[in-house]
Amino acid sequence: MAKKVTKIGVLTSGGDSPGMNAAIRAVVRTGLYYGMEVFGIMRGYAGIIENDIVPMHSRSVANIIQRGGTVLKTARCKEFMQPEGRKKAYDNLKALGIDGLVVIGGDGSFRGADIFSREFDIPCIGLPGTIDKDIAGTDFTIGFDTAVNTAVEAIDKIRDTADAHDRLFIIEVMGRDAGYIALHSGIATGAEHILIPERKTDIEELIVSLQEKERRKKLVNMVVVAEGEEFGGANEVAKVVKERLPSADTRVCILGHIQRGGAPTCLDRLIASRMGFAAVECLIQGKHNVMVGIVNNKLQYTLLEKAVKSKQRIGEDWIKMVKILAS
Ligand code: F6P
Repeated sequence: MAKKVTKIGVLTSGGDSPGMNAAIRAVVRTGLYYGMEVFGIMRGYAGIIENDIVPMHSRSVANIIQRGGTVLKTARCKEFMQPEGRKKAYDNLKALGIDGLVVIGGDGSFRGADIFSREFDIPCIGLPGTIDKDIAGTDFTIGFDTAVNTAVEAIDKIRDTADAHDRLFIIEVMGRDAGYIALHSGIATGAEHILIPERKTDIEELIVSLQEKERRKKLVNMVVVAEGEEFGGANEVAKVVKERLPSADTRVCILGHIQRGGAPTCLDRLIASRMGFAAVECLIQGKHNVMVGIVNNKLQYTLLEKAVKSKQRIGEDWIKMVKILAS
């Protein structure tokens, strides 16, 4: 029989993502509803090690569902990767009587939670909070939808000015090793080319295609490049394009951290709320080492180690569609 969880801690870790606040709010209010004591841990795992842990009340999470960033702040904590760091963290949690953790973050954060939960008797539940959507066992991660919509808004604006000047734009979006932001924002903005890490970049094919477009006087072209794309990102691609297509008026735009901020979309608020609520129910049911995901609009639970190991794949049908629609 799993021990009854009565005091839980919630933290955000790794890169922030819009919707993390909505998830924190859901965890806090659901925990309180079930009679638990809920603690907010500041700056991810660093806050456990440094004992920066504060009691949370219903009002602590008022007026945050619509805010980007994370009220608990976040960090990437090297010390937690070491056994001594995790032992220190455990001692601090034990001293406060915290017997369950909800970790909102991406794959690095889940790896930490998985090891910690195996080493010590503290169940950890993960919520996928990352704009990259590079986690298996869920259709969406908290923040992805907002980031993509931010990218779409920016690319639409860039197209306006590209159109006015007859320019070729090479636009880099985030996503670390994953191409989902590029793929989704590229399709939604009608990008002529999308380069993603999941596919080998055929630079020759890109050049030939742009040359062919130039011949038929199609001068406004948007190339959306994922930052993890193997050729080296927008700047590297632009170097070759400028060399091989000197007549094109080429510009580079790196969207950067703008994609991580801003008010979460309705979808991100919704999935964050569902996942946060489900995380507390997981702890009550005695689940541990699982990530809460949503697949086909239903809650799904995946072992943390599986969620980080088995990456999602981008199917050939997507790639085919991109080519046809952008022709
Ligand atoms: O994982 C989220 C993410 O925004 C990635 O898309 C990006 O590669 C990385 O974090 C940037 O990290 P930092 O904010 O530490 O530069």
